[in-house]
Formats: sequence, structure tokens, C-alpha cells
Amino acid sequence: MIVCKTKQELKQALASRNAQETIGFVPTMGALHEGHASLFKRARAENDVFVASVFVNPIQFNNPEDLKNYPRDFEADRKLLEENGCDIVFAPSVEEMYPEGEPLKSYSFGALETVMEGAQRPGHFKGVGVVVGLLFELVRPDRAYFGEKDFQQVAVIQDLVRQMGIKTRIVPCPIKRGEDGLALSSRNALLTPENRALAPKIHAALKKSSEMANRSCREVKEFVCGQIAAVPEMKLEYFEIARPDTLQTVPDEAPAQGNVGFIVVWMGKVRLIDNIRY
Ligand code: PAJ
Repeated sequence: MIVCKTKQELKQALASRNAQETIGFVPTMGALHEGHASLFKRARAENDVFVASVFVNPIQFNNPEDLKNYPRDFEADRKLLEENGCDIVFAPSVEEMYPEGEPLKSYSFGALETVMEGAQRPGHFKGVGVVVGLLFELVRPDRAYFGEKDFQQVAVIQDLVRQMGIKTRIVPCPIKRGEDGLALSSRNALLTPENRALAPKIHAALKKSSEMANRSCREVKEFVCGQIAAVPEMKLEYFEIARPDTLQTVPDEAPAQGNVGFIVVWMGKVRLIDNIRY
């Protein structure tokens, strides 16, 4: 595995391959776990060359505390990437990624970036768009893999590729969960042992609510909000039922079926995100 710390090193590593070979790309912010690894396995299996990036992107964090506390362990990341057959990893510094004085190419995602994560984390998707746009320009992947844990991010990235006019195919990958149902996340490591033990109740509530798919969104929402409210350690930030394509909310009287339930719950200082298809 070639480790590239600069754009120049990455360009050289990519140039040394055969131009016919397909490139599969998985961008990450490190603190890698089995959720990331599920994307790596697909990128490895479906392409000639598997490229990953590890970069904690400061401009997509709207909360300085969250950026400061974000877990970082490059040696562990390098090992997991190597075990998953990664050919090239790009792990730049902030200065390398965003040299001072160099203007950033920014994108707008319209209604996709004004709801849910976009509404709660102002500027978040702008920052994601800037970094993934830059990474796509550098790597020019044939396929790029994104997890449905961040469902709204997948929609934003699909729109990004359309705006950039590149041929990269975005491959959405299912949410990888622990045996207890909790969606794997780098932030899970920041939970206290007590909260970690309670956190699977988020997915349990969503899973149970999926049995109510033919009921109205109002009923499903009441159920999920009630389940979360019953756990004093949990604070619901939002639960919305929205269309999988436009991400716009569905009227309360409409059935949940065919839509997606999106949830964010705080446990202590940790923000947990999950979703479920109805
Ligand atoms: P990060 O949170 O590190 O996630 C990298 C990729 O792994 C994302 O596509 C995310 O959805 C996916 N992922 C994380 N946990 C997962 C799980 N349990 N199951 C399936 N996929 C999972 O998302 C980002 O980084 C950043 O926003 C990034 C796209 C790298 C831009 O900075």
C-alpha cells in the first residue's frame, strides 16, 4: 500500500498505474471501523485499483468541540486499510488540502442541503461538497462508495457528480451495524459505557416502527418519539420521514411506506445518526 501525504505524491502514484485499470475510491475521515471496511471490501472487489482517503475535513464541522474531539489514529487506520487490500491511501494535512490563499470550488445543493442535517449543521454539506469535489478531481474514480448511514450525504454527492459533469458512479452501501443493532460510527467510541449499552435502543425503535409502515407518518413519528423519550439518557434532535430521492418531508397524513425515517439522538456530548426504510 502506498501512503501519499501530498497531492503530488498521489498524482504520481495514480500515474504509475495502467490507464485502462478502473479505480474504486472510498473517502473517509479515519477512525476506521467495520462500517468503513464494508465499503473497502466492495471497492476492492469491484475495481482494479482501490484508493482511500483519510482526512478529517475541518470545514464540514460546524461545531469546534466536535472537530477537536473527533477520534484520530492513523496507524490503526493504515492497518485496517492494508488488511482490506487498499492500493493507495491519501492522507493529507489540512495545509496540504487547503493551501492558504487558494480559492475553494464550492457547490450548492438546493433543497437537499436545507433539510435535516443541512438545517441542523449549517455549512456542513458545503464543506463535504468542497472536499469530495477536490478529492474526485484528484482521484478521478470510476466508482466511489458511500454509506447509507449518511443517507443525505449520498444524495448530495450524487448531485455533486452531476454538477461536476464527471463519469464517477456513486455506489450507495447498506448500513453496517453491531450485533446489538447500533449503526457503527467513529463517534460510538466517545460514548460512556452506560450510554453505549443504551444506544442500540435507537435502532430497536426504528426497526419496530418499520412494522407500522402502512400507518400514517404521524403515527410512526409518535411511536418513535415516544420510544426515545422513554430513555432519559437520550435527547431527540429530530425524527423526520422524508422521500428517499428529494429528502423532502412527507405530509403527516400520508403512509410511511416507501419513505425513509431519519433520526438524530444525543447521548451526553455524542451525536448519533441513523435511518430506516419504510
Ligand atoms: P466518515 O464519517 O469517515 O465516513 C466515510 C464513509 O463511511 C461514509 O460514506 C459513511 O457513510 C460510511 N460509513 C460510516 N459508518 C458506516 C456504517 N456503519 N455503515 C456503512 N457505511 C458507513 O462521511 C464522511 O466520513 C465524510 O463526510 C467524507 C465523505 C469523507 C467527506 O469528508
